[in-house]
Amino acid sequence: MATALRLAVAVTCAFLVLASACQGLEVGYYKKSCPRVEHIVRAEVKKFVYKNAGIGAGLIRLLFHDCFVQGCDGSVLLDPTPANPQPEKLSPPNFPSLRGFEVIDAAKDAVEKACPGTVSCADIVAFASRDAAYFLSRLRVKINMPAGRLDGRVSNASEALDNLPPPFFNVTELVDAFAAKGLDAEDMVVLSGAHTVGRAHCSSFVPDRLAAPSDIDAGFASVLRRRCPADPAPGNDPTVNQDLATPNAFDNQYYKDVLAHKVLFTSDAALLTAPETAKMVRDNAYIPGWWEDKFKAAFVKMSRVEVKTGKQGEIRKNCRVVNHA
Ligand code: HEM
Ligand SMILES: *[C@@H]1O[C@H](CO)[C@@H](O)[C@H](O)[C@H]1NC(C)=O
Ligand SMILES: *[C@@H]1O[C@H](CO)[C@@H](O)[C@H](O)[C@H]1NC(C)=O
Repeated sequence: MATALRLAVAVTCAFLVLASACQGLEVGYYKKSCPRVEHIVRAEVKKFVYKNAGIGAGLIRLLFHDCFVQGCDGSVLLDPTPANPQPEKLSPPNFPSLRGFEVIDAAKDAVEKACPGTVSCADIVAFASRDAAYFLSRLRVKINMPAGRLDGRVSNASEALDNLPPPFFNVTELVDAFAAKGLDAEDMVVLSGAHTVGRAHCSSFVPDRLAAPSDIDAGFASVLRRRCPADPAPGNDPTVNQDLATPNAFDNQYYKDVLAHKVLFTSDAALLTAPETAKMVRDNAYIPGWWEDKFKAAFVKMSRVEVKTGKQGEIRKNCRVVNHA
């Protein structure tokens, strides 16, 4: 950044509480220090996603679950230790459903070989999540991802439970949960469109969505009933695809599913229960290219939530453990 621009941003930050503009993230942040980092991460993501599209879905979700808890700081990646036996990754919203950690490890290994000690795990999560959206959208969702996040040293399972919206939330609760992270109702609606890929465990929507009365499409409900035992034995928790129409395509089909009442969660169906969010669902469903453009902007906005800079964080050597633990 030119000195004048830097000064302008600093001045703006002093006068405005515009969190997203003041966090110093930049597109091309590693241009000098690690010019190949985005290529390296993308190559790793490509290998995994073309082998298993579901891992791509996991990576898209990973950024959301990282950013909503302690900000986008890689805290979701930390493994349990004797000193911290209950990190975020072991909390119910994350365990055992969250996936893609092995991609972050592979990307970090490759990046460390090229530029040791330079690139944060938080930035690798943001790049990898962005790349998963790129590949699953057949290269249509192309995002310039700013970087410069630092890795945090705190990871607490109860904070994940407190900050990640559960699938039974209604529309006001969803709007509030996103507002708490500086994201508005439209960001919430547009980001929910990520439920156009990946899967859910039956336990995430049974019994509330399959119990009568429900607005769920009858044919869709019977598919789910066949797949999900009403009274499962412990440990028996099958999965179903979120979007039965195009399960691995990162597209706007989710909004058509919402309108057709063929979605898994109360939180998905809830988007039709307020006039403003219902209008957004229709726009995303019917206007070609609308959702893709909105998603790109909202995803970058989410990637800036409560970012750590300066003395607040570090660049982890191993994404699973804090430095000098
Ligand atoms: C609006 C509030 C949201 C709620 C209540 C919610 C809830 C859930 C739940 C319960 C699952 C299923 C987990 C399982 O049982 O395996 C899931 C999956 C998923 N979520 Fe969300 N989510 C929300 C927003 C988001 C956002 C903002 C994103 C990303 C931008 C996202 C991306 C995904 C993806 C891609 C999957 C599939 C993961 C996989 O296949 O591994 N979700 N979500
Ligand atoms: C995690 O957070 C909860 C609630 O904020 C707090 O009570 C608990 O002490 C924290 N745990 C650790 C290990 O810091
Ligand atoms: C959503 O749930 C909250 C808490 O249970 C409740 O107070 C509120 O009235 C509900 N809102 C809607 C729109 O159903």
